[in-house]
Amino acid sequence: MEGRAIRLAHKFCKQNGWPLAQGNRTYILSVFQRRLTSLSKRVTLSPESPIDSSDRSFIKAEDTMVNSQTPDYQNEFSQFLSDFSDYIRFEKGKILERVTDYSPVSTSAVLAKLHKISGLRDLPDMSSDALLVDRLSEWLINAPPEQRELAGLNIVRPEAGTHHIPGRYPIFYDFQNLDIVLHEFLEAGASLSGRFLDFGCSSGRNLAVLDYAYSDSLDLYGSDPSAPSIEFVRETLPNVNAVTNEQNPPLPFADGFFDFVIAKSIWTHFSTTAAAKWFAEISRCLAKGGYFFFSTHGPHDIASRIIRNIPSPRYDRFAGDDHWTRDSFLSAAIKGLRNDAVFFQPFKEITYQGDLKGVENAVTDDWGVTFLLKDAVEALLPDDLEIVRYRVARTASRHDSYIVKKR
Ligand SMILES: C[S@@+](CC[C@H](N)C(=O)[O-])C[C@H]1O[C@@H](n2cnc3c(N)ncnc32)[C@H](O)[C@@H]1O
Repeated sequence: MEGRAIRLAHKFCKQNGWPLAQGNRTYILSVFQRRLTSLSKRVTLSPESPIDSSDRSFIKAEDTMVNSQTPDYQNEFSQFLSDFSDYIRFEKGKILERVTDYSPVSTSAVLAKLHKISGLRDLPDMSSDALLVDRLSEWLINAPPEQRELAGLNIVRPEAGTHHIPGRYPIFYDFQNLDIVLHEFLEAGASLSGRFLDFGCSSGRNLAVLDYAYSDSLDLYGSDPSAPSIEFVRETLPNVNAVTNEQNPPLPFADGFFDFVIAKSIWTHFSTTAAAKWFAEISRCLAKGGYFFFSTHGPHDIASRIIRNIPSPRYDRFAGDDHWTRDSFLSAAIKGLRNDAVFFQPFKEITYQGDLKGVENAVTDDWGVTFLLKDAVEALLPDDLEIVRYRVARTASRHDSYIVKKR
């Protein structure tokens, strides 16, 4: 084993033009040794592991190195990928680029409805794989306006200035996002009926799909502090009860009002203070037995940013260091996760934060970029919210997802 690791380490140093100095050589050797050891063990995972063994591959040390600026960061990032490998999803030796292990719950429901409308041409058939979302989205992109009108899927993206998160396709509807959320609820044992809140709904891309496919079984609500986005929801989705909330609790809903709450890309931004306050508030609004879905940034997100050299958000926009680079920022995030299971950095100025641009008198003290390990999430949740499902790399293929249930 050691001989093979040395050969690989030599080859790797040569390919990368690295001097075979003792420090480098020893370090790289240790990476390859770990890699070979994990390969030889054929990676057996404990039942609590968040990752299926089929998803798991060994760390690609070459990938780790590609975009890093200095050997120190390269070393640190490789160590991180290795230490946190249970919380990073690799597929075929590469970091997961696209989640496909879910059933297209809402896409199928939308398509079933479309198939009942006479006069719609060239609809995709009902075969049910995760990529159904591509076929439906492509149909919608190519459909002439009168076909979209007939289908009842004619909302176009809001004007610039009204907050909206674009999905994978140049259409308003993001079927995939919702497919994953609903898949997670169903896997947690929920049946989809009752009062449903999209907390931090922006302009309602999830609500639009829910309203289209589930208006018979779900009573839909949306809330967001961005008034223009809520105005857009009210105009385009009159069946949805949309409210503007403050940056801090409470929400204008009675105790135990909701059966479901979702919050996609919200706890990815809250400080721990805001995270704890808003968890408690969601708990107050949930009925006993109600379900809450939320997403977080975890090690997988950091790994994606390292390996895919994700340039956004511009790291120099964050408070805490006038000279953040991608590497120094991610290095600080890694230290935060190692030491405290959490890392939060607010934006320097409100103008640097697109999410809060439509929010009147917004402050960034409690809104930035947040990375959380499951331990930190557990510590922040109130006692009456129990984690019943946790998955690595779900929504946007980078965020971890949680389903919690009210006791
Ligand atoms: C990254 S976007 C996600 C939007 C939406 N969930 C989606 O997936 O399309 C973050 C959203 O959180 C909203 N937001 C910011 N502060 C919030 C707060 N204190 N409570 C609820 N939502 C907030 C922003 O206005 C923005 O619409």
